[in-house]
Amino acid sequence: MRVHWMVLLCATVANAQNFNGGDSTWYCGILANENCSIHIAEPRCGTDLITYTNMCALGQAHCKDATVNQLHMGPCGDGGTTTRSPEQIVHGSELVLDFQCVVLGHRGCEPAMNEKICGTDGITYQNFCEYEKARCMHRDLHVAKLGDCSA
Ligand SMILES: *[C@@H]1O[C@H](CO)[C@@H](O)[C@H](O)[C@H]1NC(C)=O
Repeated sequence: MRVHWMVLLCATVANAQNFNGGDSTWYCGILANENCSIHIAEPRCGTDLITYTNMCALGQAHCKDATVNQLHMGPCGDGGTTTRSPEQIVHGSELVLDFQCVVLGHRGCEPAMNEKICGTDGITYQNFCEYEKARCMHRDLHVAKLGDCSA
């Protein structure tokens, strides 16, 4: 697990200038290593009209093809597909973050990571993981800069 966070941290440093909180590329590295079949099955229909086992599987599909989003909950072909409104489509990057939040909630943060993150809320987060946890609650939170806010 530590290795995953280190990779993520390196990505953080490299992309700090153009960081976009909704950018799923951040999570795809972690998702790629995830065995989705160990996660609870709750089928979702993708915009590619393929039924995915769960948020994890649909997230992986989105990471491979960014045009794949969630058309609706439940399997495809339940008869309701054509009547869904575009507003119900959930963007893949949101799913990927949702999944990441579930994983973070269960696994907690690695105490070894000490790269501080200054959030756009003016709060200094002790590491990238703590920042991500906060973002699970506040989706409009982004990285203001790396390091302490007061530095
Ligand atoms: C994923 O988990 C399932 C269920 O535990 C297991 O059967 C399968 O071998 C695992 N796949 C990989 C690639 O680890």
